[in-house]
Amino acid sequence: MITGEPNLAQVPEIVRSGAYDFIAKPVLKEAILKAVERAAENRRLIAARRRLEAQVAVSQQEKITTLQQMAAQVAHEVKNPLASLLLYSMHLRGMVGEREAIVVDKIISTINHLTRTTEQIANFARPLDLVPRRLNLNVVVRDVLQLLEPHISANRISTQLELDESCAHGMFDETALRGALMNLMLNAVQAMPDGGVLTISTASNEAKLRLIIADTGVGMTEEQTRKMFEPFYTTKSQGLGLGLPYARKVIEQHHGAIRIESRPQEGTRIEITFSP
Ligand SMILES: Nc1ncnc2c1ncn2[C@@H]1O[C@H](COP(=O)(O)OP(=O)(O)O)[C@@H](O)[C@H]1O
Ligand SMILES: [Mg+2]
Repeated sequence: MITGEPNLAQVPEIVRSGAYDFIAKPVLKEAILKAVERAAENRRLIAARRRLEAQVAVSQQEKITTLQQMAAQVAHEVKNPLASLLLYSMHLRGMVGEREAIVVDKIISTINHLTRTTEQIANFARPLDLVPRRLNLNVVVRDVLQLLEPHISANRISTQLELDESCAHGMFDETALRGALMNLMLNAVQAMPDGGVLTISTASNEAKLRLIIADTGVGMTEEQTRKMFEPFYTTKSQGLGLGLPYARKVIEQHHGAIRIESRPQEGTRIEITFSP
């Protein structure tokens, strides 16, 4: 854009109308050449960034697909031997005395734990089969909170609910949504081992339904925030690292989006938006 009255206050309007730069009159050939050169360079950089972003998305997807295939394979290989081990152990339990039975019970509970872990891994590798129906998001939030109550009080966490009661209905698969919210809220609770505040809020308008889960826990560095959706990424000794990938899968299959903001030692804020 060429102007006779260069005025910084006009810059926003100039940019809004699609110009990249403006030149003050009188116009010199050099000035125009420079401006065009800058604009061309800018365009080139934007195109290069788009290409790189597309490449990163493809390689992320390939990595996840490979992980899913490996996970499915491992889960499959382990499932049947585990079932046999459980049967043998239960048989053995009936044959031994009381003192040995204590040890056999430990074996059995370890096998059960392994079986549950294997099921989670198999679940992660399976495509979701959703059956959405009209559901009140607030009801699911309250249910999940109630299930988490023992962990919440054990960590001396106070909860703050800001639920929009006017309308929080949407089309959801209940089991999947419950599972996703359970993972997100459990993460928030686990991030506050020494207490804190768990805030959950919902808001709705005609176009969108929004859910925010915020904690005042340990938070994450930028590097952690980048990695947290990767399957099997965990910083917990007992963690499996499948909670967030599962939650994201569920939310995206409901045409929702999940965004995370986090700061070390300050806390984490998760915003989920559904556009029904
Ligand atoms: N609310 C949170 N606050 C801090 N860190 C979090 C939070 N949620 C997730 N994380 C980080 O992301 C990692 C992956 O989470 P997740 O996929 O649920 O697996 P898991 O809980 O089994 O570790 C966690 O180990 C933790 O480091
Ligand atoms: Mg988790």
